[in-house]
Amino acid sequence: VPLRLADAHGRVATDLRVSLTDRCNLRCTYCMPADGLQWFPTDEVLTDAEVLRVLAIAVGQLGVTRIRFTGGEPLLRRSLEDIVAGSARLRTRGGGTPELSLTTNGIGLDKRVTALVAAGLNRVNVSLDSLDRDRYAALARRDRLDAVLAGLAAAEAAGLLPVKVNAVIMRGHNEADVVPLAQFCLERRYQLRYIEQMPMGPQHQWDRSQMVTQAEILALLGQRFDLAPAAEPRGSAPAELWRVAPDDRQPGGLLGVIPTVTGPFCAACDRTRITADGQIRTCLFSRTETDLRTPLRHGASDLELAELWARAQGLKAPAHGIGEPGFVQPTRTMSAIGG
Ligand code: GTP
Ligand code: 5AD
Ligand code: SF4
Repeated sequence: VPLRLADAHGRVATDLRVSLTDRCNLRCTYCMPADGLQWFPTDEVLTDAEVLRVLAIAVGQLGVTRIRFTGGEPLLRRSLEDIVAGSARLRTRGGGTPELSLTTNGIGLDKRVTALVAAGLNRVNVSLDSLDRDRYAALARRDRLDAVLAGLAAAEAAGLLPVKVNAVIMRGHNEADVVPLAQFCLERRYQLRYIEQMPMGPQHQWDRSQMVTQAEILALLGQRFDLAPAAEPRGSAPAELWRVAPDDRQPGGLLGVIPTVTGPFCAACDRTRITADGQIRTCLFSRTETDLRTPLRHGASDLELAELWARAQGLKAPAHGIGEPGFVQPTRTMSAIGG
């Protein structure tokens, strides 16, 4: 029987999220502290060759079919184009090419998107929490809205469709952006997903009662749009989708909500992760990690590394447990996990 990334709860991971750096050029409040974060030392970050070996094992030996590059901000990895090109040469066990996508804050995407597409990138998700310059700057702690919008437009022009937009909604900060973001994305045919804030950022900052829930987001949208549940099955996708009827002010389309806290999709999760410093994380909220880097650097064979990964995946918890007794927020910030 070929190896695969199965766990004890009936799930098989085929979607790998690879963090390429823990660094970022923004400081989104829900993700990172304003300052004082220690970056991984360079020698602890997997090299390009090491990343490509890990990907070859995941795709060739463990049945992974989709790869998403994350960070921190993956565009800060100067060799991203080379890593994408190397990944595009891999073959899945079914003989196809793995799907290659990128989750980015969009800054600098305009200058690199052509090369990334040429290297084999298939899709991009861009984080955009506000269309208002001041609110954007307050949430991201950097005044970079124009750069993000340029990146988004370039992704669309380069044909990375559907362009997806991620917006974390934060109470008292960007509820006013819920409707304008929808209009902006519907007009451009971007697929917008609103995200419930998860306990993932700076320690002790998240508060369940402060979180803007899926129900509240839908109520805000309902003041302006006619929404109906989309017919499309959700499968293992994190977003629940709603169809918006067209009217005289905007075209119709799909809007999504990623309700990680109030509507977890853990039971259908098909994900595994590798951090920039070479640790296997089977869940965003894992309490433990499995060190792949040390054996990788000390002569382990591909098969040994694949078996290590398969064993680690076997221990994946059934659900994230947010809000349950004993839940502990990860010590790594989101930027050091990769979202
Ligand atoms: P698509 O395949 O394009 O739908 O990508 P995606 O939505 O899985 O990826 P993206 O990087 O855009 O992440 C969107 C949101 O989903 C972010 O807030 C992520 O943190 C969240 N997310 C991604 N993976 C997981 C996961 O395994 N568990 C949970 N709870 N949330 C996740
Ligand atoms: N809760 C929810 N989403 C988050 N992201 C980063 N931190 C959090 C958090 N605490 C989002 C980013 C990006 C995606 C990878 O994860 O905005 O869109
Ligand atoms: Fe950077 Fe993304 Fe974290 Fe914002 S959410 S600080 S863009 S890694």
